[in-house]
Amino acid sequence: MTTRASGERGPELPYPSGWFCLALSRELAPGAVLTRRLAGEDVVLYRTRDGQPHAVRPYCPHLGAHFGAGGTVEGRNLVCPFHRFAFAPDGVCVATPDGPPPRARLEHHTLRERNGFLFVWYGHDGAPPGWEMPDTSPPGAVPTASWATDVRAHVQELTENTTDLRHLPVVHHTTVWKADGPRAEGPCLRTYLRLGPDGPALLRKIQWDHTFLQAGMGCLRIELPVPALGGVLRLWVMHTPTAPRRTRLLLACGCTDDRQARSTGTALLKRPVHRAVARSLLWTSVRKVQEDVRIWNAKRYEPHPRLAAGDEGIGLYRHWVRQFYPPG
Ligand code: FES
Ligand SMILES: [Fe+2]
Repeated sequence: MTTRASGERGPELPYPSGWFCLALSRELAPGAVLTRRLAGEDVVLYRTRDGQPHAVRPYCPHLGAHFGAGGTVEGRNLVCPFHRFAFAPDGVCVATPDGPPPRARLEHHTLRERNGFLFVWYGHDGAPPGWEMPDTSPPGAVPTASWATDVRAHVQELTENTTDLRHLPVVHHTTVWKADGPRAEGPCLRTYLRLGPDGPALLRKIQWDHTFLQAGMGCLRIELPVPALGGVLRLWVMHTPTAPRRTRLLLACGCTDDRQARSTGTALLKRPVHRAVARSLLWTSVRKVQEDVRIWNAKRYEPHPRLAAGDEGIGLYRHWVRQFYPPG
């Protein structure tokens, strides 16, 4: 992997390829237009009136207006704010207000909508997707609470956290009771941890199973079964590289009863409870992540870390991430 110039905070890693979350599905209602950053560039997201999401490069091929600065959706077309040329979902310019359209086409990004999130593919030199974004949860399991922040660190530094078991007692006052993995499966990484709070004996009785699924560097999903509620709590942690050493971090939580048909009366009655539990998990997770953010914002990237016994997961992780960088 080729790193860019080295500075006070270590060598600068390139952007990794992969699927990166640019928005929650609910942020992009039919007819909405949003601008988000990915790998140093703006991406414009819009949703047609019939519900199809799209992601395009921001500049109009006519005279370069930015679709995020006043662009609108009319039916299935994206309409430019400057001279109102209209572009169909396949990118082709299909209409102008006053004459035949020019031969022009918008450049699209590849987009996937999964479990209430919108993911856009980033490939080196425009390379198409090398793998498919998996569903990280059963259909219908979507987040109901979310929080986001910007971190001054490369995305790889954030995702490494899951495999760094040694920081859990130190930074998060958390005991690791049991660990299995990480296990690499192509672009995915699976880990199981049984975790609980540090402290007096009574607190140490609280132990929760956590099942981690990392899909590329962009998406981490953590499942926690909650037998008392007959449900599964899910925490999604999305990492989106926005600029060199800048990552947008999104935390989102949801709770569902996976064993029941979602339309049954019991499932409907439980819904407010599930939402409240998801909100509570979100704020607990935000507090924990803020403990990490303090470290990430100040740390440097160590390309050749002096790993100690017990850091094997980090070694495996560093090997696994190589697939997301250009060779060389
Ligand atoms: S710049 Fe978009 S229609 Fe003219
Ligand atoms: Fe952490």
